[in-house]
Amino acid sequence: VVLVLDFGAQYNQLIARRLREASVYSEVVSGQITAEEVKAKGAKAIVLSGGPAVVYAEGAPSMDPAILDLGLPILGICYGAQLLVHLSGGKVAPALAREYGQKELQVQPTAIFKSVPAQSDCWMSHTYQVSELPAGFEAIASTDHCPVAAFAQKEKQIYGFQYHPEVMHTAFGQQMLHNFLYEVAGLKGDWQTDNFIEASLAEIRAKIGDKKVLCALSGGVDSSVAAMLVHKAVGKQLTCIFVDNGLLRKNEAEQVEQLFRQELDLQLICVDAKERFLNQLAGVSDPEEKRKRIGETFIRVFEDEAKKIGEVDFLVQGTIYPDVIESGAGHAAVIKSHHNVGGLPDVVDFKELIEPLRLLFKDEVRTVGAALGLPSYLVNRQPFPGPGLAIRVIGEVTEPKLAILRAADYIFRSEIEAADLEEEVWQYFAVLTGIRTVGVMGDERTYHYTLGLRAVSSVDGMTADWSRLPLPLLAKISNRIVNEVEQVNRIVYDITSKPPATIEWE
Ligand code: XMP
Repeated sequence: VVLVLDFGAQYNQLIARRLREASVYSEVVSGQITAEEVKAKGAKAIVLSGGPAVVYAEGAPSMDPAILDLGLPILGICYGAQLLVHLSGGKVAPALAREYGQKELQVQPTAIFKSVPAQSDCWMSHTYQVSELPAGFEAIASTDHCPVAAFAQKEKQIYGFQYHPEVMHTAFGQQMLHNFLYEVAGLKGDWQTDNFIEASLAEIRAKIGDKKVLCALSGGVDSSVAAMLVHKAVGKQLTCIFVDNGLLRKNEAEQVEQLFRQELDLQLICVDAKERFLNQLAGVSDPEEKRKRIGETFIRVFEDEAKKIGEVDFLVQGTIYPDVIESGAGHAAVIKSHHNVGGLPDVVDFKELIEPLRLLFKDEVRTVGAALGLPSYLVNRQPFPGPGLAIRVIGEVTEPKLAILRAADYIFRSEIEAADLEEEVWQYFAVLTGIRTVGVMGDERTYHYTLGLRAVSSVDGMTADWSRLPLPLLAKISNRIVNEVEQVNRIVYDITSKPPATIEWE
């Protein structure tokens, strides 16, 4: 493992990810980790992340200096590089001009710059920089304003970059990280999906032995892949519970049952809780209240089912790496209270959690899912909110409204897929507004619902832009929906980005 020590950079997850793209397994750990812990983790190399602080400031994060004596190859990035200089007896000082953006980097021929041209672009973002190198260190790259854009202490295998090799604006950044791993640290690239699967099957088997495991299957990517891994490891010792809350899209519940029970032979309990959820939602139109009730009802339903099974030893959760980071990072203001299965551990009687995906990024989870034989429609599924269609029916949720929405949403999705746009568009769905407007059909006046269409591009759902869908496609979708779905006589297309809007309407 290569450890990325976190000093508060916004890019530290990206660093781990780039190292893993170079086929070397990597994890982000606290910058306060001790040399002993680094040894215990069996680290083969260390990367120090950037961060907003200045090394001289009071309270600036430092690191256990004994890590420098472990004889491990070390690469410091931005703040990490300055910290290496500071701890080794050199100095940093304010840069003459704050450097921000793409700059031309001149490199000297050294192992860490193998296959990197003498001049190329790099991404800079700093106000301080190295002003005096410690004894035994040499500058190996520069920009116009930054004489020490990179340095090396070759004997001790200590390197530092003032720029950010992990962002794509550094043209040869990935090559440099690759060189650090292979040319400097002499590592073997053995981080691959197959190895991950093999290793985690062995780990899961060792942990579970002949005991019983329970999993809440939502039909989403993460819980499905987690369940498949555990199923592959221990077969029928795993029981999955799927709760049909009546808020799913057309055919979704049937698909989950067909796939997991019939085709993949998982031990699956499907709970039909449609009525229970709808009863809880009757008369409720406030979005947060809907979310709260759905979350609570889910937990109660799951609890009832779990009781029937009795005590289990383990509970599987589809936690993935970004969840781990987010929950550690302290949440920003609650814009919408997201309902996931986070409340489960409190209500199920079990001894230990199994989280086989906790070190993977979303796209790695998809790769593992595909390698485990899950179909592409599932592993490449667009995000779908836990409260389901309840937050896409504006106002009170009723079965007739859900039926209208399901039918319209299905047409929209089918047309996007038929146009081969599902990879370009990150999320796309229909919303049943509470507005009725006047229309005319044949010679008749109608007074029916307005339906909203939403399609966005995004990377992680935190920000999003509305998709510029081709107008002929929008025309076709609109036409089909008003003709095929009763009770809808007007279609609007949502052209707001996030922020200021959110992706969902509630
Ligand atoms: P918003 O609407 O906040 O959505 O821009 C961002 C992403 O999160 C999804 N979303 C939810 N997911 N429970 C979930 O599990 C929720 O309550 C919830 N609300 C929104 C949304 O679909 C989008 O992908």
